[in-house]
Amino acid sequence: MLQLLAHVRSLLVNCFGQFALDSKPDKPQYSALDCLFHIQRAPGIQVVQKSSVIKFENVGLRYGMGPEILRDLSFEIAPGSFQFLTGPSGAGKSSLLRLLFLSLNPTRGLINVFGKDASSLGREALPAIRRSIGIVFQDFRLLDHLTTFENVALPLRVRGKEEASYRKDVIELLSWVGLSDRINVFPPVLSGGEKQRAAIARALINQPKLLLADEPTGNLDPSLARRLLRLFAELNRSGTSVVIATHDLDLMDQFQARRLVLNEGRLQIYD
Ligand SMILES: Nc1ncnc2c1ncn2[C@@H]1O[C@H](COP(=O)(O)OP(=O)(O)OP(=O)(O)O)[C@@H](O)[C@H]1O
Ligand SMILES: [Mg+2]
Repeated sequence: MLQLLAHVRSLLVNCFGQFALDSKPDKPQYSALDCLFHIQRAPGIQVVQKSSVIKFENVGLRYGMGPEILRDLSFEIAPGSFQFLTGPSGAGKSSLLRLLFLSLNPTRGLINVFGKDASSLGREALPAIRRSIGIVFQDFRLLDHLTTFENVALPLRVRGKEEASYRKDVIELLSWVGLSDRINVFPPVLSGGEKQRAAIARALINQPKLLLADEPTGNLDPSLARRLLRLFAELNRSGTSVVIATHDLDLMDQFQARRLVLNEGRLQIYD
């Protein structure tokens, strides 16, 4: 176990060591990731868990009276799995991620999440389930009146946590994604890539069991995109199920993973 942890650490340092060196040369480089792994490893049972994280059965979606944009989707996201979600613009990738995040209801079919029928979840159960799901939106959805730090800390504040209990973790997480010098600025002055990294940090701060990322590398240069892909891969290795919506063929070619391909409302799966 210790050997595995050391291996994972060394991979993560390969991904983010330079950021850590750039931002805090006098500090150990791993503490934030150690923290994340500490929490990720605790529910490590999820790797051997048999039931799906999410299961779709004949799911369909239409907006209003419009045409059905997703049709007869039946698939599972297994615990500890990694998949790319791809397909042409307008194919419904973001819509499918919204269904997976339970922020949109299907117009037909069943969605089962962590063993429960999503349509039967009460008002109290839904936020608890959503806290297990981290999402990076295509348009980031950072709150402009909150600093980068406050945006990333928001999921913890919403859970009623005291700032003293998470301050260090948020700062360390921001340093992993190379935003140490942007902690106290507001989103309007961040570049597209910086906003994207802040949104990724916000999705990770709650140590999600399922991470959904909508074009998470769309605003990043290729080298940063590769680093983030490696971070997602390491999170996945520690048990988090990952779904990345992307158009980026180069990115997908860098990592052998299941591909969910949407086309004209239908889903094809390449394992
Ligand atoms: N809120 C909405 N109301 C009505 N139609 C919508 C809404 N959101 C998306 N659509 C339509 O649903 C279809 C799928 O959109 P979606 O954003 O899910 O595609 P996408 O695959 O994520 O596209 P892209 O690659 O450009 O991000 C499109 O035809 C879009 O116009
Ligand atoms: Mg989209």
